[in-house]
Amino acid sequence: MDKSIELKKLHTKWLAECVCKLKKTATRGVPGDGSAHAEIVFIGEAPGAKEDKEGRPFVGAAGKFLAEMLADVKMKREDIYITNIVKYRPPDNRDPLPKEIAACAKWLEEEIKLINPKLIVFLGRHSMNHFFPKEKISTVHGKLIIEPKWGKRQHFLPLYHPAAALYNGSLRATLKEDFAKIPLILKEIAKNPSTIFPLP
Ligand code: URA
Repeated sequence: MDKSIELKKLHTKWLAECVCKLKKTATRGVPGDGSAHAEIVFIGEAPGAKEDKEGRPFVGAAGKFLAEMLADVKMKREDIYITNIVKYRPPDNRDPLPKEIAACAKWLEEEIKLINPKLIVFLGRHSMNHFFPKEKISTVHGKLIIEPKWGKRQHFLPLYHPAAALYNGSLRATLKEDFAKIPLILKEIAKNPSTIFPLP
């Protein structure tokens, strides 16, 4: 079966089966969005007000900034896949709770396994800490992590969350600088997927 159809089926299944308590307060679930054949999967935190209204991730202010950074590296939203660790909006945009992250974790895992991306980009500390609980975003942002996962060597790039960097001049510059490394990272992975290489 085509991966796009499989992905749609996965979202339909999880929208029905996910047992997250946030379902009670959110307007709707916000599944991941983009290409099932993407080389990169971006993982954010949770839907905000606009995403909750429209049912698509990153369509608000943070999404606009993300689109700007994608354009800077000559990528389109349709080329990538973007999702969140939590698929329902937490009330008042509070941080997702560990049990809410746990409720959506299997869904996220299945999305990633199906897409099988070359690179996973964490947007912010919440998604990074789900996979690497001991790391600090202020220390590891922009640095490639290579770990055995899902039966292969998986490449991860932690970045600051676009919403955190939106109105903070120095964080914004750092995020843009880190984001600009993505094409080079993809090129190096394509050359030799099993080599650990230094970033400039
Ligand atoms: N912030 C996120 O982390 N995810 C969204 O979908 C929107 C804003």
